[in-house]
Amino acid sequence: MHPRVVLLLSVTIGLAVALIGALWSLADGSAQHGPRPATAAAAATAPKIVMPAAATSLPAVRLRAVAAADPCAQPAVQQALAAGGDDAVVEAFGGGAAFRAAVTAGSAPCIDLADPRRDWVVVNKARPLNPVTFAPSSFGEPALTVDGAGSLRADVAQALDRLSAAADAAGAGSIALASGYRSYDTQVQTYSGQIAEYGQAQGDALSARPGHSEHQTGLAADVVSCAGGCGDIDSFGGTAAGAWVAQYGWQYGFIVRYTPGQTEVTGYDAEPWHLRYIGVPLATAYHDGGYSTLEQFFGLPPAPAYPG
Ligand code: DAL
Ligand code: ZN
Repeated sequence: MHPRVVLLLSVTIGLAVALIGALWSLADGSAQHGPRPATAAAAATAPKIVMPAAATSLPAVRLRAVAAADPCAQPAVQQALAAGGDDAVVEAFGGGAAFRAAVTAGSAPCIDLADPRRDWVVVNKARPLNPVTFAPSSFGEPALTVDGAGSLRADVAQALDRLSAAADAAGAGSIALASGYRSYDTQVQTYSGQIAEYGQAQGDALSARPGHSEHQTGLAADVVSCAGGCGDIDSFGGTAAGAWVAQYGWQYGFIVRYTPGQTEVTGYDAEPWHLRYIGVPLATAYHDGGYSTLEQFFGLPPAPAYPG
């Protein structure tokens, strides 16, 4: 570069710096940031002293911009919500981790964690189904069931088939449905039977009260291992299939909903056999984030007991 051009640039930059310094100094005076310099020498250094104060306002502007972003305004999210493809909704948010972050930050008003039609619904002792007599709009039977198992939401039954086939291919044995969708009225029977057998406190740690069971959504599957013959739900956690599901179930959209050591959060004893479908993108984020409960995943309060 020509020396005169360099000189001109230097002068221009110098003048700009001096002007910015003077503006910072004025801003500092009007905002009353700290004590004023006591000497002329100190005053000459004033722009350097106040520069950090002016600079710190810049990141705050950026943070406000991020918080104001509304993923629900994105056409891809709106279209996926209208189409009812829950995986597509999560992907439109940018994946399971981004979806979780938006929901827990309160910046996703279009996502209702109480909507029992959605894969992300959270049902627990503090969050009854709404409506309390909700029933899914589709049903399907998995390929492998034990007597009286019933059905699941149709797409969840297909996901369970994929899970079972993968477990079998991995040498862990196949997986059969032992209990799927249970209506409000069925849960009345299930719950009262557990209370009659185990008493109120233990019964409440084993079985959900009617209107509070994930089984009523069609998204929950109590499963058994079938290697040769089929076992029962109580032995499932100790089988190869139980270990395989705990490790790889997320790849098929399932999480083990009630894990050991989480009774104070979920309200229930551990149930290695109770799988909850949340879809592959959310289950992937759940696994990758190392979460143990849906409450923790979605930043919801623990639900150890029924309110009141
Ligand atoms: N056993 C689980 C908690 C239910 O009844 O839904
Ligand atoms: Zn269950």
